[in-house]
Amino acid sequence: MIFEKIISKYYPSDDNLRRLLLHHSRQVAHRALEIVECHKEWGLDADFVEDAAMLHDVGIFLCDAPGIYCTGDAPYLMHGVLGASLLRSEMMRCADEQEYYRLERMARVCERHTGTGLTAENIRGMQLPLQKVDLLPETIEEQIICYADKFYSKSHPYRERTVESTAQSLRKFGEEGVCKFMDWARRFEGYNG
Ligand SMILES: [Fe+2]
Repeated sequence: MIFEKIISKYYPSDDNLRRLLLHHSRQVAHRALEIVECHKEWGLDADFVEDAAMLHDVGIFLCDAPGIYCTGDAPYLMHGVLGASLLRSEMMRCADEQEYYRLERMARVCERHTGTGLTAENIRGMQLPLQKVDLLPETIEEQIICYADKFYSKSHPYRERTVESTAQSLRKFGEEGVCKFMDWARRFEGYNG
């Protein structure tokens, strides 16, 4: 798996941050893979989903979030785009064509998983420290990983949110995101509450 190589590079020591990242990413990967398994008709690539879920938060060490052991300088909201640029820098060193394209697909997962995705308008309106471009999960794999991530907080790593409490946690990004999340819950996990 590509993720092991990349996590070992950016998180070389077995410390609290690496353990938290792996724990959270495994939660997300597990849920995302269950969705893949339940929807064989979509013909998704489970290995890709696992790698991408394990790397979706790879940029957190560059951010300033001491509560979750991140001692970098960047605002936490940038962890997705920072993770994407790390993966794109790996692309530049990559000699294998398949791995090269896989890294780009994973970079997209990283940069598009905040909330249920951000529009340029959200970024402008909330004055977020991001480039004012749409960062929306578009492919089904991007959407499944973004969806699965919303159930798990790194600040409370042993809690799993319900669909309802997750929807509530997304209200700060606007009602549109809540509707999108509920639509995913129905489509991906057959939620009918
Ligand atoms: Fe995450």
